Amino acid sequence: MTIDILTVLPELLESPFNHSILKRAKEKGLLTINVHHLRQWAVNEYGQIDDYQFGGGAGMVMMPEPLANAIESLSRPEPYDEIIYLTPDGERLTQKTANTLSLKGNLLLICGHYKGIDQRIREKYVTKEISIGDYVLSGGELAAAVLVDAIGRLLPGVLNDETSALFDSFQDNLLAPPVYTRPADWRGEKVPDILLSGDPKKVEDWRYEQSLERTRQRRPDLLEGEE
Ligand code: ADE
Repeated sequence: MTIDILTVLPELLESPFNHSILKRAKEKGLLTINVHHLRQWAVNEYGQIDDYQFGGGAGMVMMPEPLANAIESLSRPEPYDEIIYLTPDGERLTQKTANTLSLKGNLLLICGHYKGIDQRIREKYVTKEISIGDYVLSGGELAAAVLVDAIGRLLPGVLNDETSALFDSFQDNLLAPPVYTRPADWRGEKVPDILLSGDPKKVEDWRYEQSLERTRQRRPDLLEGEE
């Protein structure tokens, strides 16, 4: 998979992809991430990429021409499977969306800044608008990093234990069960006996029950089929 990211703050995206699972995905050649500075496509020598908004009001808007030029030049020779704009008014990111996007070949992520991007770009080029939650960030970069992480770990071959993503929270609309490691007795607090029983069927049933209970208590909306 190739993910291109268009941003006015490439520095913000220097570290997130260079550690842990995403680093491994890149090293294995399963994921390529290219961060592009929008300023490359600025329309004048001042490097201008934003302007005042029509109708008045505080805050600048990212101009259509640099964005269009960037999108058109990056879309060659191969068009993108999805052009995604990160925005608080987009569709809320869920595990299901991450699963679906992990099956694509190449994505372009557009990070907004200031008041966002000119509406005409959203209408003409953007195929999907994603929000990572009901709060407003200073820009789309951190949201893009979250999205890339959620997708990247799902690519086949990225996780060591191929099955482990299947048991993540949300994969069955259930939260993950509690987990424990050694020692079995830590300051008098014991690990549940069943986990020490050596009976895989019992362990599996217990984990399922715990998942269900946790979901009932914390996220009953997931059990109602909502997301
Ligand atoms: N940009 C600013 N806030 C955002 C959010 N919550 N999700 C995605 N992009 C954003």
